[in-house]
Amino acid sequence: MGAVIGVVSGKGGVGKTVLTLNLAAALQEMGYSTMVLEGNVTSPTSSIYLGYLPVERTLNRVLRNEIPLDEAILQHPSGIRLVTTSLNVSELTDDFEKIAGIVEQLKTRCDILFVDGAAGLGPEAIRCMEWSDNVLIVTNPEIPSVIEALRAVRIVRGMNKKLVGVALNRHNPDKHQMTEQEVELILELPVVVRINEDDLFSEATAAGMPLVKYKPGANTSHQIFQFAAKMVGTQWTPPKKGLKEQIDQLVEKLGINKIKLPIPAIKMPAMKMPAMGKPKDTAPKK
Ligand SMILES: Nc1ncnc2c1ncn2[C@@H]1O[C@H](COP(=O)(O)OP(=O)(O)OP(=O)(O)O)[C@@H](O)[C@H]1O
Ligand SMILES: [Mg+2]
Repeated sequence: MGAVIGVVSGKGGVGKTVLTLNLAAALQEMGYSTMVLEGNVTSPTSSIYLGYLPVERTLNRVLRNEIPLDEAILQHPSGIRLVTTSLNVSELTDDFEKIAGIVEQLKTRCDILFVDGAAGLGPEAIRCMEWSDNVLIVTNPEIPSVIEALRAVRIVRGMNKKLVGVALNRHNPDKHQMTEQEVELILELPVVVRINEDDLFSEATAAGMPLVKYKPGANTSHQIFQFAAKMVGTQWTPPKKGLKEQIDQLVEKLGINKIKLPIPAIKMPAMKMPAMGKPKDTAPKK
């Protein structure tokens, strides 16, 4: 029987879905059998991050007894197994009772079932907390999301669920942000992982891949791999880089790949050359 980990935040848009998909992919690569359930049943975005729009094999169809649950388990090339709802607005559902039963069934099919929580603290978000054994709180290091995270923490504590800790996402030392210590003090929870703000997440989304698969060598991927290992009580060490990867990284660091080609010709100032006369006969006289 797998553990159910709810990924919740209070405030929307802090990175729950991106983190959930990356953790599921990272753990899958480490040999664990993972699954992701889209807990945001009315605004499902997880499949969009993976580059496809579910039409045929949706949770909605399982709820209507049109297809068996196993048929709705989508297998992504990254290794992620995802169960998600339809994006078709005529199919909106709030059949949470039946979804609770589906959570019970899904956790018998994997080691870890992630429930990607809904934004806010409405019924959808609360249900995600209820379905979970453990809850990971995601926040950005900014006051509005930390305050919303605090409200989510209060609700989870009232449910007697285990709190995994705080994932502090979009850390950026160049911005005016709250410190890790301030966040811990307010939420009364340890920051269990800090993930940098990184444009590569958007790049990976455009490629329809979780970052840990798209660029496993990126610093932010390492942060996720390390945390994924910590979640299951193991350690992760980055694989040794091959020569090509080392050169690629150096090229990126030096910004060489940003230089536009062809390089414009450099114009030299015209130089006045002294008039050339007949070369003097400098040969020693005999
Ligand atoms: N560490 C990061 N660095 C840069 N961009 C990030 C990072 N984490 C997430 N993002 C971006 O932030 C946006 C919101 O992410 P995401 O959809 O995962 O948030 P969410 O909490 O699931 O939102 P919602 O509450 O609406 O479900 C996306 O564009 C994503 O690529
Ligand atoms: Mg989301």
